[in-house]
Amino acid sequence: MDLENFKAEMDRDARAVDAVMDGLLPLHDDPEVRVIEAMRYSLLGGGKRVRPFLVKHSADLFGVSVRASLRAAAAVEMVHCYSLIHDDLPAMDDDELRRGRATCHVEYDEATAILAGDALLTKAFEVLAGDETHSDPRVRADLVLALAKAAGAEGMVGGQMLDLVAEHNDLTMPEITRLQRMKTGALIAVCCEIGALLGKAAESQHLALNAYAHDLGLAFQIVDDLLDVEGDAAVVGKATGKDAAAGKATFVSLLGADRARAQARMLVDQAVEHLAIFAEKADPLKNLALFVFERRA
Ligand code: IPE
Ligand code: IPE
Ligand code: MG
Ligand code: MG
Ligand code: MG
Repeated sequence: MDLENFKAEMDRDARAVDAVMDGLLPLHDDPEVRVIEAMRYSLLGGGKRVRPFLVKHSADLFGVSVRASLRAAAAVEMVHCYSLIHDDLPAMDDDELRRGRATCHVEYDEATAILAGDALLTKAFEVLAGDETHSDPRVRADLVLALAKAAGAEGMVGGQMLDLVAEHNDLTMPEITRLQRMKTGALIAVCCEIGALLGKAAESQHLALNAYAHDLGLAFQIVDDLLDVEGDAAVVGKATGKDAAAGKATFVSLLGADRARAQARMLVDQAVEHLAIFAEKADPLKNLALFVFERRA
């Protein structure tokens, strides 16, 4: 894979989902517009758009219309951005830099940031449930169900809770794995599930995508933790060195950087193997997995 070419491809896809998200959050003249401004600030201000890419390219495997897959992609990115806004709050990671800019609560204020996060989360479900996302109401209900499970206490929120609990406790390898799979893996996995649901994929295809996403999600967070230790804040667009300072349990804190990197590489290779049944149609997903390992931001 040529990393620069692939980044350009990701960038094109990112602009397409940005346009959809822009259209979903129009500004207006009423005084509550401040919350929309804060939502737009965090949603449209950069980011790699890895999750939208996964939704779109999983859906592409089954010939889903781009209009539908980009709406679903926008919904997942909204949940992701809500999670980042809340993750950065003083009560959580207390960060002031995100995607190379001030975090939402610094740019606005804490209360507005909480509300912007809340509203992005709820907007995501409004978008998924909307008629334009899929003609079959059963599919729309399944999308809502899948995203709700991935985002909630059994998934991302549960993982964030474990992450906070872990600041005061030493975790074992299986415990950290569970934490990371919930905190980050669940939302990554649901991207592929959404693609499969939109495309009414066969069971075997569903399972293969799920296995891919399962490995990719864990690799993604291991690389995030490596970047926290080894990355350059100016490149990653967020403060580094924070996990160790907060006493966070990560693969890097437990295994050291070299073994953590080897683990991420193994997971990425394994993720790619799961795509074999789709042959070259899955090249974008394969390249994304390689990008996840090689990324510097
Ligand atoms: C950061 O996610 C938070 C984690 C779950 C590790 P990303 O690395 O995808 O952040 P953006 O969207 O590109 O800013
Ligand atoms: C955040 O993990 C995961 C979620 C927001 C669900 P991190 O706290 O490691 O993410 P960064 O490093 O701040 O992006
Ligand atoms: Mg955090
Ligand atoms: Mg954080
Ligand atoms: Mg991190």
